[in-house]
Amino acid sequence: MKPIPEPFRIKMVEALRPSTREERVRWLEEAGYNLFNLRAAQVYIDLLTDSGTGAMSDRQWSAMLRGDESYAGAESFYRLAEAVEEVFGFTQFVPTHQGRAAEALLFGIMVRAGQSVPNNWHFDTTRANLETIGASAVDLPIPEARDTARDHPFKGNIDLARLEQLLEQARPGQVPLALLTVTSNGVGGQPVSLDNIAQTRALLARYGVPLFLDACRFAENAWFIHQREPDWSGKPVPEIVHAMFSLVDGFTFSAKKDGLANIGGLLGVRDKAVFERVKQRMVVIEGFPTYGGLSGRDLEAMARGLREVLDPAYLAHRVGQVCWMVEQLDQAGVPVLKPAGGHGVFLDARRFLPHIPQAQFPGQALATALFVETGVRGCEIGSVMFAKRDELTGEMRYPDLDLVRLAIPRRMYTNTQLAWVADGIVELYAQRERIRGMRIVEQAPVLRHFTARFVPA
Ligand code: F0G
Repeated sequence: MKPIPEPFRIKMVEALRPSTREERVRWLEEAGYNLFNLRAAQVYIDLLTDSGTGAMSDRQWSAMLRGDESYAGAESFYRLAEAVEEVFGFTQFVPTHQGRAAEALLFGIMVRAGQSVPNNWHFDTTRANLETIGASAVDLPIPEARDTARDHPFKGNIDLARLEQLLEQARPGQVPLALLTVTSNGVGGQPVSLDNIAQTRALLARYGVPLFLDACRFAENAWFIHQREPDWSGKPVPEIVHAMFSLVDGFTFSAKKDGLANIGGLLGVRDKAVFERVKQRMVVIEGFPTYGGLSGRDLEAMARGLREVLDPAYLAHRVGQVCWMVEQLDQAGVPVLKPAGGHGVFLDARRFLPHIPQAQFPGQALATALFVETGVRGCEIGSVMFAKRDELTGEMRYPDLDLVRLAIPRRMYTNTQLAWVADGIVELYAQRERIRGMRIVEQAPVLRHFTARFVPA
């Protein structure tokens, strides 16, 4: 494919600062080989996350001037409510300061210690929010998702057979709700089909279990349905989004992704009693239900962003950027997760660095080597994030995949910059034997990837 020209022109610029290899080696050592510890100014092209890092449009910035900062009943809230109803078809919702706050609120009300919550794949904060309550987060991806080379149009789907088995074996009341994460971040930004959502709902209904969407990247998911699902191909994206949300009892949402905003989130629920409890709890931890830990101008940015994200020209370019990069890397023989997902390029670190065992964190080794050679910052999604010691046997349990995610911020980097990143990865692949494994010297008990310190093994 040819890269799709950016469907925007640039009105304001932020200078990037190139650095030398010597500087980067020193900075990395000072950061304990943890890319989260770098100062952003030390990074040349920052692909750490697509969350809250995108560029807002002129219309979003101008809408922000209308932000109504009233504590209760702000006009900005009502403008957001119009957008939420128009896009998702939900009338009961609260804004939150970001996605994880929506998760904490929902789980705090609906989930208790000892219960199990199935999902196609839990994001790390979603998992941590459940585990801190004492509940278990059960990942049920389809088997195809474990093979990074295997083509499948909806690799984000939940494994319905394993879900049925879990529901069948559960004690009454053990599964308070189920989630579907669209798109599935941990398996590579892969979409969930509408058919899978519908079948999940039908199955859960037999057991009286409500279904929620972790809807961070709902528009990218809808775009893939538009492109790949025969029954829906060519249907307008807003219609597909409505169909997705019509099947669920509620949703959590991080506006830092498909809200095209720098901050913000949403929690939507259909059940009236649950919604009343959300509003009561909300005031204690997030803020009054009409502002939810955000300023009025943030609500305005989100309201506009929710509509802009559905523009087919935007989505074609956005998903096209990722797809084009994956194609460049694949053609050069670099082991990259296929098919391309919606929000980032995922390098398969175990196939990239077969000489590094999982115990020496191939993903971390690859992400840090890429920074040293190019100044590009990615993010390990693998053993640093997910390896766990089995409490019974004492053995380390490693995840199926060690990936390095190069998340593409929305409307931020041009095709030329991303082509340069792809070239840098191809050059690094040519010298892969020189990359060494890592050893952890310091770590926190929860979400260790944010703060752990490493040394070369
Ligand atoms: N769910 C998914 C699938 C996510 O990817 C994220 C955040 C969250 C929930 C939490 O949202 O950050 O607004 O609190 N993902 C970011 C990432 C941080 O880099 O993938 P949040």
